[in-house]
Amino acid sequence: MDRNIDGLDTGSAHSARIYDYIIGGEDHYPADREAGDAMCREWPALPVHMRANRDFMNRAVRHLAEKAGIRQFLDVGTGIPTSPNIHEIAQSVSPDSRVVYVDNDPLVLRLSQGLLTSTPEGRTSYIEADMRDPASILQAPELRATLDLTRPIALTVIAIVHFMMDEDDAVGIVRRLLDPLPSGSHLAMSIGTAEFAPDEVGKVAREYAARGMPMRLRTFAEAEEFFTGLELVEPGVVQVHKWHPDGTGTEVTRDTDIAMYGVVARKP
Ligand SMILES: C[S@@+](CC[C@H](N)C(=O)[O-])C[C@H]1O[C@@H](n2cnc3c(N)ncnc32)[C@H](O)[C@@H]1O
Repeated sequence: MDRNIDGLDTGSAHSARIYDYIIGGEDHYPADREAGDAMCREWPALPVHMRANRDFMNRAVRHLAEKAGIRQFLDVGTGIPTSPNIHEIAQSVSPDSRVVYVDNDPLVLRLSQGLLTSTPEGRTSYIEADMRDPASILQAPELRATLDLTRPIALTVIAIVHFMMDEDDAVGIVRRLLDPLPSGSHLAMSIGTAEFAPDEVGKVAREYAARGMPMRLRTFAEAEEFFTGLELVEPGVVQVHKWHPDGTGTEVTRDTDIAMYGVVARKP
């Protein structure tokens, strides 16, 4: 195992760094680039797909801030800071917006300073936690110090549940994170699917699995399960590039290039 000066394992590819490499970031190592290149050989649309996911996140956050009046965000599976980050979008709409970021990758922790560049009126904080232990997120002092749990909060879970296996019970985890949030809170998710390019996406999933990152891709019906009892924001469960496209996003022309459902819903 290669270790850099901070004791970080850089000899194995990691999902956050593969994603950073493919969407054009700067925080990755040779193992991540080797993995990313192998995946793009299997599915050349992978960069388009990943950028479309990030574009969806940006549009969903803007929608939540502008149209739903949300001023508080809990983002689980944040990834390596990539401008614009959620607080930059939310605070461009309302400078007093507050964001709590959560990830379990030590590199994200190391770079988390990039997530803490809040406006003076707002606030951001970072929690190092594993989503599979939702209590560790909900009980973290940073969460209670940053967010007011009596006012609506948007829970954003973007491009992460495909790393949750059936035994992890991703639907139950998301439900537990939503439970303490008040009425008027929202859930925004992107959910990996192989339904539009089964062969190619299946090969990419095998590349991840071969590097110790098994993937659980979901059908439309399985994606819908996350939203039982919530009010779907139009247009409901759609591929990410079809969720409120604004013409500023990635160069998506084909549904077969996108392996992610995007959804925003309101807690009644
Ligand atoms: C593909 S990235 C998505 C980043 C960002 N949400 C986006 O869509 O642009 C997935 C992130 O989830 C994080 N992650 C994966 N499993 C996790 C877990 N069990 N708990 C917390 N974070 C996790 C990874 O470290 C990585 O940063």
